[in-house]
Amino acid sequence: MARELSLGVLVSGSGSNLQAIVDAIESDRLDAVIKIVISNNPNAYALERCRRHNIPISVINHCQYKSREAFDDKMISVLTDNGVELVVMAGFMRILTERLLRAFPLRVMNIHPALLPSFPGLHGQRQAFDYGVKFSGCTVHFVDEGVDTGPIIIQAVVPCCDDDTEESLQQKILKEEHRIYPQAIQYFAEGRLEVSGRKVHIKNSNQMSTPSLHNPHLEGF
Ligand code: GRF
Repeated sequence: MARELSLGVLVSGSGSNLQAIVDAIESDRLDAVIKIVISNNPNAYALERCRRHNIPISVINHCQYKSREAFDDKMISVLTDNGVELVVMAGFMRILTERLLRAFPLRVMNIHPALLPSFPGLHGQRQAFDYGVKFSGCTVHFVDEGVDTGPIIIQAVVPCCDDDTEESLQQKILKEEHRIYPQAIQYFAEGRLEVSGRKVHIKNSNQMSTPSLHNPHLEGF
């Protein structure tokens, strides 16, 4: 059996991405173990998911800390005490300080519900929908000091069609989030990610061969 990568997952809300990671681990598609789930929100539904799967929980309520640094120091100590090798932000609604990033250099991942660098920040799906794009999607990236600016590991594209609503687009994107996040973590677990500046090379990956996508389809061009 491959060595299991030790994960610390940061959540704030529903935790459907956490669930996708748990499912991938339980079905032996992801060589990882979740050592700890940290939630800044004591009422996050993600915590209920942890209870069902016997995953250790730590609630660190940011409201009880005087500064972002103090909050991150607490998270660093919980993550290191649990032997975490990769920090996975899964719907975590706080911005990390440099302090945490320095403690885990190129070892913090995030998922964003848009094709970065377009539509960073909150409500990526809504921003894309309102803008009228013909494609959107999701992005897994390493976290750096910026907001959704770190090196991109994998992206999935979904079409935005005339009959889509903000909700239907969000659902299409979320479905892809649940596929690409476990995949990105598995690349890391297999030691296949090589980062050079902004570029992430994935060793022995099967790159997309379709030359281009059009939405709507071209009519004879
Ligand atoms: C996802 O859309 C994720 O991309 C964004 O927040 C949402 C969290 O969903 N960062 P969940 O908590 O994983 O269900």
